[in-house]
Amino acid sequence: MLTLGVLASGSGSNFQAIIDGIDSGYLNARIAVLITDNPGAFALERAKDHNIEALVLRPRDFTDKDSYYSHIAGELKKRGVDLVVLAGFMRVVGKGLIDQFRDKIMNIHPALLPSFPGLHGQKQAADYGVKISGCTVHFVDEGMDTGPIIIQAAVPAYHDDTEDSLGARILKQEHRIYPYAIRLYSEGRLSINGRKVIIKGDREDSVIINPPVI
Ligand code: GAR
Repeated sequence: MLTLGVLASGSGSNFQAIIDGIDSGYLNARIAVLITDNPGAFALERAKDHNIEALVLRPRDFTDKDSYYSHIAGELKKRGVDLVVLAGFMRVVGKGLIDQFRDKIMNIHPALLPSFPGLHGQKQAADYGVKISGCTVHFVDEGMDTGPIIIQAAVPAYHDDTEDSLGARILKQEHRIYPYAIRLYSEGRLSINGRKVIIKGDREDSVIINPPVI
């Protein structure tokens, strides 16, 4: 069974989607720990409700970025984490973590990368006036939202969309594709070839246009 470590900074609705995926048997995984950089994160309540160990680790309590992320890596290793899942973790992850979990960190981003990386992807897309937006699950590398793309889902974007209205449409898809990407990983069906992620077994178009629902 796959052991997950989840990092989240806020509401944690993606964290919840993963918990629900596990509870329903869709995902053969366990969550060993939730780590947050934000003592006020609602994700902490979700962890408590589901008896998941939670750690609050704030960068300001560490001397520098490297020691912060090395410490996080240590906590994850201690708990036998196989895959690190960034679920609304609002920081660019440092080398100390990436080196310890090379190709074993996933992130979800609320835009169709490589468009609109960084913060407020939903607002960037709404303001730009695109007609299609969506979300992306990708492996994490040293860049900002630049790692190999695992799966994407698209949603329409309308001229009167706001960050919130477009964001809500995107978030629904996030909750579908994140558990699915983790499931593919747990089944050993993902491999990385340069920039490309190969999904074994499924035709890519069937996966991307209509990912299996939980
Ligand atoms: C999600 O929309 C996620 O894609 C985004 O933050 C939100 C977290 O929601 N992540 C980023 O913008 C990362 N750059 P949640 O806390 O309810 O899962």
